[in-house]
Amino acid sequence: MSGRIPREFIDDLLVRVDIVDLIDSHLPLKKAGSNFVARCPFHSEKTPSFSVNRAKQFFHCFGCGASGNAIGFLMDFSHLDFVEAVEDLAAFAGISVPKETYEYRTESNRENLGGLYLVSEQVATFYNEQLKSHPGRATANAYLNMRGVSDEVVRDFLLGYAPDEWSLLSNRFDQKSLVDVGLLGKNDAGRVYDRFRGRIMFPIRDKRARVIGFGGRVLDDSLPKYLNSPETVLFHKGKEVYGLYELLQKNPKPKRVLVVEGYMDVIALAQFGIHYAVATLGTAVTQTHLDLLFRYSAELIFCFDGDSAGQAAAWRALSSVFPSLKDGRQIRIMLLPQNHDPDSLIREQGLDIFIERMQTAQALSDYFFEHFSRDLKLSEIEGRANLKKEAEVYLKQLPIGAFREMMFEELSRLSRRHIVDNEAVDVYKKSPKMRRQRNDRLSLPSSVMALLVQNPRLIEVVERKKIDWNYLEFEGIEKFTEILNVVLKDRPANHGILLELYRGHIDELVIKKLASWDLLIPEEGVEKEFSDALDKLLAQARTTGLEKLLAKEKINGLDSEEKELLRKMLANK
Ligand code: GTP
Ligand code: MN
Repeated sequence: MSGRIPREFIDDLLVRVDIVDLIDSHLPLKKAGSNFVARCPFHSEKTPSFSVNRAKQFFHCFGCGASGNAIGFLMDFSHLDFVEAVEDLAAFAGISVPKETYEYRTESNRENLGGLYLVSEQVATFYNEQLKSHPGRATANAYLNMRGVSDEVVRDFLLGYAPDEWSLLSNRFDQKSLVDVGLLGKNDAGRVYDRFRGRIMFPIRDKRARVIGFGGRVLDDSLPKYLNSPETVLFHKGKEVYGLYELLQKNPKPKRVLVVEGYMDVIALAQFGIHYAVATLGTAVTQTHLDLLFRYSAELIFCFDGDSAGQAAAWRALSSVFPSLKDGRQIRIMLLPQNHDPDSLIREQGLDIFIERMQTAQALSDYFFEHFSRDLKLSEIEGRANLKKEAEVYLKQLPIGAFREMMFEELSRLSRRHIVDNEAVDVYKKSPKMRRQRNDRLSLPSSVMALLVQNPRLIEVVERKKIDWNYLEFEGIEKFTEILNVVLKDRPANHGILLELYRGHIDELVIKKLASWDLLIPEEGVEKEFSDALDKLLAQARTTGLEKLLAKEKINGLDSEEKELLRKMLANK
């Protein structure tokens, strides 16, 4: 996705926009020393630990660990994807985003896609009109009545009726487009026919109001009960949910989103005034679904039938949610009584009881540990060992952060043993906050690296020193030269831009950690501090390197290049 917006534009944007102004416009900041602070928007707290630094163009929360540049802030704060965040940021700077055009996206290709959206839209409207005009409309309307669906809901969801005929569509719309969007089937003899016949139609719209597919339900007990559009260029079941467009129409920033299983559940809930429900399209919840939904709301409630199939579905869904659970995001699990789905329950028990159930839905953490505790005998050492082993597999998928820490703490409490979350410990060991606690300062290589990462312009100092990196030795030199090369090549004007180069990179976290270390050096002293620290590091590294070379000379002997290097190094000393 990021490939579509030119890299130079993003760099330029991150130079033009001041992160302090940007964040201040969303969240009033107060000046505190060289930083600006506020109460963190990503976790709840009483005293401000969220700080924004103008020189670095970087924000960081000491409480929950959230950090990033201006784009990252908008993504997290406004629940945007990358492209949307860049667009927002450009709007803030008063400029528009140029797009690099893909070669395969030729003009005709794009028109064609437009044609597919158009025909889908027209068919949705056509089906909707059949509820009013088709001679056979009475059965369809009677069915909707019987299910308690009002005209208003029919209108909001553009519900429709596909009459029981074989070639209504192909006679009216472009046949090739109909085939491409999956509205026509083909028999063995090669003849096309309307896929949906004698069904109540549910158009599926994306968040930009475009009809991308359909679901259709029979009017009686015949099978299959539901028919969905096949996967097409417009429609991917694993990526879309039913009801998102309609939800956003009512409220673009819902406090919570209820995830249910059926089309009719979304419809019934809307009928009762719950306009924040969406349904997966007959598939298990995917991570793409979650990332989509978390963009609009920080809280998702998964609703499952109370029977064993529902329980199994709940557990299956959980196994894909852990990687998405950044701090500040919440998932709750709502299990319904046996033989009920949201539709039947809200109709039988009413809105108030349904809302109460929703409010008392179990937090994911409780659900998770309860699930294990139920199956494993925690009174026995073996049970506790199994809990540790099995639960860890899931918890390890959680992103680094306060929630992950708390889940591991709970696991450790439950198994009454000290369980070390090795990955987190590794990261935290390297994190400034922990190091400060351990020995009150960063190691020399780390502080040199931190200075460079925070002030990429210091690369000039490195260049002036004309360093020969051969046979230098210090802890982390590979990572050090890797980062150095990125800075050399791309010349980011500030830290925010450097961080952008690392978006999605395996070292993104390393860069963020180095950036969040407060080195307490006044702006005017940074260059000298860096130069001195680098000299010291190089001197140490030469000594270590020289020792290594001398040792090699003794044991294996040196080749001519190495001999020359040794001569130089000894002369330099
Ligand atoms: P009602 O029986 O009308 O209340 O439907 P529902 O929305 O409650 O559906 P149900 O709980 O039976 O199924 C949940 C979802 O699974 C549906 O909304 C469909 O997306 C999907 N589904 C159910 N039955 C079928 C089927 O026969 N074929 C396909 N492809 N999907 C189905
Ligand atoms: Mn149902």
